[in-house]
Amino acid sequence: MILVTGGAGFIGGNFVLGWLSNANAEEVINLDSLTYAGNLETLASLQNDDRHIFVKGSIGDAELVTRLLNQYQPRAILHFAAESHVDRSIHGPADFIQTNIVGTFNLLECARNYWSNLAPEKKQAFRFLHVSTDEVYGTLESKEPAFKETNPYEPNSPYAASKAASDHLVRAWFHTYGLPVITTNCSNNYGPYQFPEKLIPLVIHHALHNKELPIYGDGQQVRDWLFVEDHCLAIQRVLEKGRLGETYNIGGWNEKANIDVVKTICAMLDSIQPKGNGKSYAEQITFVKDRPGHDRRYAIDASKIEKELAWKPLETFESGIRKTIEWYLTHQQWVSGVTSGSYRDWVSKQYSAHGK
Ligand code: NAD
Ligand code: TYD
Repeated sequence: MILVTGGAGFIGGNFVLGWLSNANAEEVINLDSLTYAGNLETLASLQNDDRHIFVKGSIGDAELVTRLLNQYQPRAILHFAAESHVDRSIHGPADFIQTNIVGTFNLLECARNYWSNLAPEKKQAFRFLHVSTDEVYGTLESKEPAFKETNPYEPNSPYAASKAASDHLVRAWFHTYGLPVITTNCSNNYGPYQFPEKLIPLVIHHALHNKELPIYGDGQQVRDWLFVEDHCLAIQRVLEKGRLGETYNIGGWNEKANIDVVKTICAMLDSIQPKGNGKSYAEQITFVKDRPGHDRRYAIDASKIEKELAWKPLETFESGIRKTIEWYLTHQQWVSGVTSGSYRDWVSKQYSAHGK
């Protein structure tokens, strides 16, 4: 079996659902502390599936993690759990330090103790796969080449710095203790079950509720978008075939300026679910004050994973964004479940700080 951390969140949830969609899949222990970003509704279809064991708890709880490892004897840990939203890291970085750095340290130590006592064959097969982000590499000028695995780390936000620190810990546990780790650094994900604080689900949600679509600064910041299921398939491939101690950049060669992403969503909504008054959703676009320290451009050079592990994304941006919009339109109950009081408090705090 495998141990997944953060499997009630966006990417971890998609990973668990994708993994268990295979009838022959190994069991999953899913350790998630259910912060605001974790949601059991995402895993509702697994309620009667004995292959899914959900445990509510923190990666920072050494006793719990040790007990789970000894009891279930997983052959791999896939570490998704994190605080993941840049804007929240600007308002309050403490949770990012605690979960992303101290939490990862604790998980590494528990994994090391468990792994070092395994029988030789199991010890050799064991993997610790650390899921990270392209934001650790900092920002690119418009003409600079995309991030390679060899780029220096230059994180600019508290979120990116905390993920960079966790990547360094993972690296050190490989070089110092021989723990069999692999790290993946992926670009911006989008798709089903993403919490509507991130750009794409926020814009879909606000569009449908006749609210402003807030664009930070001039909207010309570039992100490299990857459909979440493609990310999950890449992680499976890295788990099967990745080389120990290596890092793999994952991305879809899909650079888009934020304003273009938002206009694409508006145009698709105009055709799939037109507004009654004949107006376009694009009229809701509002430029607001920029994010402090806003990285201008991210872009992933995915040639290493493509060449070494023969992974390529299956979705284009156009097919992935259509699937995403259709998913949000047909899963409004999931959306209402996560856009409760505390979500509304966040939106009002965040967007009053950004003003116009
Ligand atoms: P998310 O915020 O949607 O989910 C994070 C999950 O971790 C939640 O279910 C939360 O409850 C859980 N969690 C938080 N603290 C925990 C703790 N102490 N113990 C156990 N569980 C805890 O995040 P996501 O977007 O799914 O990102 C998953 C991982 O992928 C993160 O490590 C993130 O840095 C990385 N990543 C994300 C993106 C992206 O575009 N979203 C891109 C590249 C990499
Ligand atoms: P986000 O989804 O928060 O991901 P990240 O900051 O990790 O890249 O933001 C994606 C881009 O969209 C980023 O450049 C910030 C911008 N953005 C807006 O313009 N308006 C918004 O309301 C949000 C949430 C993000």
